[in-house]
Amino acid sequence: MPEKVIPIRLAAPPARAPAPHYAGGAFADTLGRPLRDLRISVTDRCNFRCVYCMPREVFDENYKFLPQPQLLSFEEIARLARVFVGLGVKKIRLTGGEPLVRRDLERLIGMLAELDVDLTLTTNGSLLAKKAKALKAAGLKRLTVSLDSLDDATFKAMNDADFPVAKVLEGIDAAAAAGLGPVKINMVVKRGVNDTHVLDMARHFRGSGHIVRYIEFMDVGSTNGWRMDDVIPSAEIVRRIHAEFPLLQADPHYPGEVAERWRYADGAGEIGVISSVTQAFCRDCNRLRLSTEGSMYTCLFGQNGHDLRSLLRAGADEDALRDEIVAVWRARGDRYSEIRTAQTALPEAARLRKVEMSYIGG
Ligand code: GTP
Ligand code: 5AD
Ligand code: SF4
Ligand code: SF4
Repeated sequence: MPEKVIPIRLAAPPARAPAPHYAGGAFADTLGRPLRDLRISVTDRCNFRCVYCMPREVFDENYKFLPQPQLLSFEEIARLARVFVGLGVKKIRLTGGEPLVRRDLERLIGMLAELDVDLTLTTNGSLLAKKAKALKAAGLKRLTVSLDSLDDATFKAMNDADFPVAKVLEGIDAAAAAGLGPVKINMVVKRGVNDTHVLDMARHFRGSGHIVRYIEFMDVGSTNGWRMDDVIPSAEIVRRIHAEFPLLQADPHYPGEVAERWRYADGAGEIGVISSVTQAFCRDCNRLRLSTEGSMYTCLFGQNGHDLRSLLRAGADEDALRDEIVAVWRARGDRYSEIRTAQTALPEAARLRKVEMSYIGG
């Protein structure tokens, strides 16, 4: 399809059409969705305390992070990853918490790089200047860096760890220099906190080859105090940027791509918007998450995991692991973002405890 000039939509658009190639697959969930994308959380710890993810009042010095023996070892992760790739997984993203705080992560990357898979990682960038070269050498293909503002005071207020912008920018440069670019840069936009910095971010990274993605603030977990009023709809972000730098909508790279792509009309690159609140994309969701302790979650908003670690540690062979994964996926019917209401977003109203994003990874 050729690129089209944008008609900007401010009202909620109709749901996306179902992807026909998913229908009736031999190995699909109850909504016909295949398994393609595996996100592996390698640690539940992080050196930041982003207000929308690990608020310091909750994740304080008394918070009980997982003890080491409960974490999957690199060998266990690699063993599971092989089974997942055999089942059709095409992309593996390492997440956390902050994946780079896990010691010797390069060793795991080296093991996963042997698989025929797009291997990537999401990081807060704080340790990237030091580690970019080693990550590349180990076999990482590309990465995504979270950065919520270019203004130090705002960024520090959001990461709540007094971490300066300049260090993250250094990390992004180091990643590009190491050959891990183009780097994707994730900015979670929260009304009244950093929404006035949307344009600065676009201006700064235009022409750099990197891709800024604006993410709607979501009600993940049970601790971030989410309110619909805090969400800036992606359509509004596109409108604001378009007013200064005209944009053209671009086609997705693959079905089920999370970000909607927009190109600068003058050729200065592209941005993405991730509209999981105002334009849910569950219909094509092909993502499975593996927690730090080896539990599978079929939705970012899941409450219960499916324990694979016990099976692994009881000596299950590949067939048994495969059967368990396939059974869980086949039973899957998650579409939380499509059925989200103000009520389900409130932990007390729903009497549920959604799992924290720092535990299963973004
Ligand atoms: P690429 O592999 O580069 O295409 O990355 P991606 O589009 O998968 O994006 P990434 O993993 O960086 O995800 C960006 C953000 O989108 C995450 O940090 C989440 O905030 C959000 N996100 C990703 N996957 C999901 C999902 O399955 N459901 C919801 N609701 N949000 C998601
Ligand atoms: N809403 C949207 N995105 C979030 N992330 C973490 N918490 C939230 C939230 N509440 C994203 C961050 C980071 C990735 C790990 O997850 O932007 O890029
Ligand atoms: Fe850490 Fe990323 Fe969560 Fe921020 S969003 S607290 S950097 S895991
Ligand atoms: Fe997938 Fe759940 Fe996100 Fe919907 S809310 S896109 S089902 S992870």
